[in-house]
Amino acid sequence: MKIPEQYQIKETITQNTYLVAGELKEWTGQTSEVYSTISSTENYQKTLLGTIPTLGETEALEALDAAVAAYDKGQGLWPTMKVVDRIACMEKFVTQMKTKRDEVVKLLMWEIGKNLADSEKEFDRTVQYIYDTIEDYTQMDRDSAKFEKHGGVNAHIRRGPLGVVLCLGPYNYPLNETFALLIPAIIMGNTTIFKPAKFGVLLLSPLLEAFQNSFPKGVVNIIYGRGRTVASPIMKDGRVDVLALIGNSKSANALQSVHPKSNRLRMVLGLEAKNPAIVLKDADLDLAISECIAGTTSFNGQRCTALKVLYVHEAIVDEFNKRFSEKVDALQFGNPWEEGAKLTPLPEPDKPAYIQELIDDAEAKGAKIINAKGGETTDNYIFPAVLYPVTKDMRVYEEEQFGPVIPVISFSDIEQPLDDMAESNYGQQVSLFGKDTKTLAPLIDTLVNLVCRVNLNSSCQRGPDVYPFTGRKDSAVATLSVHDALRSFSIRTFVASKDNDYNNAILTELLQTRASNFVSTDYIL
Ligand code: G3H
Repeated sequence: MKIPEQYQIKETITQNTYLVAGELKEWTGQTSEVYSTISSTENYQKTLLGTIPTLGETEALEALDAAVAAYDKGQGLWPTMKVVDRIACMEKFVTQMKTKRDEVVKLLMWEIGKNLADSEKEFDRTVQYIYDTIEDYTQMDRDSAKFEKHGGVNAHIRRGPLGVVLCLGPYNYPLNETFALLIPAIIMGNTTIFKPAKFGVLLLSPLLEAFQNSFPKGVVNIIYGRGRTVASPIMKDGRVDVLALIGNSKSANALQSVHPKSNRLRMVLGLEAKNPAIVLKDADLDLAISECIAGTTSFNGQRCTALKVLYVHEAIVDEFNKRFSEKVDALQFGNPWEEGAKLTPLPEPDKPAYIQELIDDAEAKGAKIINAKGGETTDNYIFPAVLYPVTKDMRVYEEEQFGPVIPVISFSDIEQPLDDMAESNYGQQVSLFGKDTKTLAPLIDTLVNLVCRVNLNSSCQRGPDVYPFTGRKDSAVATLSVHDALRSFSIRTFVASKDNDYNNAILTELLQTRASNFVSTDYIL
């Protein structure tokens, strides 16, 4: 099918700079080619999108030095700046970012295969997240524009930055999830080093200048390269105060373990999950099926919040399987810009082979593919296979598939899914389908203690972004939401003074002269 004019790749992007200490430094060393698994020609071949710098340890440490210098032991321009001025920088950034929507959306489609509607949503949701963050921080500042007095001590309490933040985002939301870490980290007065994920890298190129000209030098440093080569030396150095990572717990553990000062290091982590759906026998099947379709297949299951195992009551499992499988087979595969394309090319070239391994393992242990198209493979895709009956000895039960394969397990005793969840290394969310409140009530009371969000009669999801996004065990450390992220990237810090004439005269003068940016009761209107 012909690619519409506006989405064609007419020229490749040569990203030959990286952002360090406010300078877009030219890189003349080794580079890596960025390919899309989407073909531009009739006969399948990957499409070359451009090149990025393959930076090494020297450049990584140069970025760390820049972030440390910008924080300047707490004396830097950025961490000491008035909140209202930091907000002005963020507004400047988002205004420029909005002008790059078409370029970023096009690259989201090519680099990670996200369909047009979801790519546009990712961009718009990120812009909205920035505005909501500005609004929330403004309110936080208003709330702290005051003194408290207890036990003869006056206190002026605010939230202050933590220091230097290393930000690493995931490839499935290379813009949104990365910015959901980066933006609150920056606005709270931290200085940052940011390395894009393995896919979804070039889509940041249109935003580099906006980062460069919106913030003081060294506040945002952007580097390219392999995690092992650039992120590990930065952590090993010991000057990073926060590791902010959305990705895999293994990478988080590895990075955390090389940092020499474990109490200095704070962690903000969004990690993997194996969110189950539990479909009770009185569930509205139409609703449960359509929510399970969205939960298992949107963005081909490449979401940490995706439903990755379906528990269906044995009384309804045959009916569920039949209707669910038909709906999976009716999903349309196509390139991201094609009308109605719900399933789209997988950005990882080796993903179809990995999913096939999971299918082969499950089949060898007694499961069957119950949908007609399940497992059909093309150059860049493997059609979602619905596997039934799945048992705990299968890899597809144990591993976070992060791709198009759907395990179904039937249960007669509700203790089975509950025990499995308690035993699991993960604890992000669950979807619970049913109606009878006498059955639901004790289940809800248990499930909220096993995960951090119980979705009643709906699939799992992160949004709306004002709600807390977190998880237990290997699924997360710290909580993200517009408000919680501002807290996660800051710490309460305050000025205290005994309530006497001597101190109070000093405080009054500090307030009247507006000499301090911290001790201030100015109210942002
Ligand atoms: O990859 C995990 C994302 O946080 C999921 O977000 O539920 O909005 O797709 P979402």
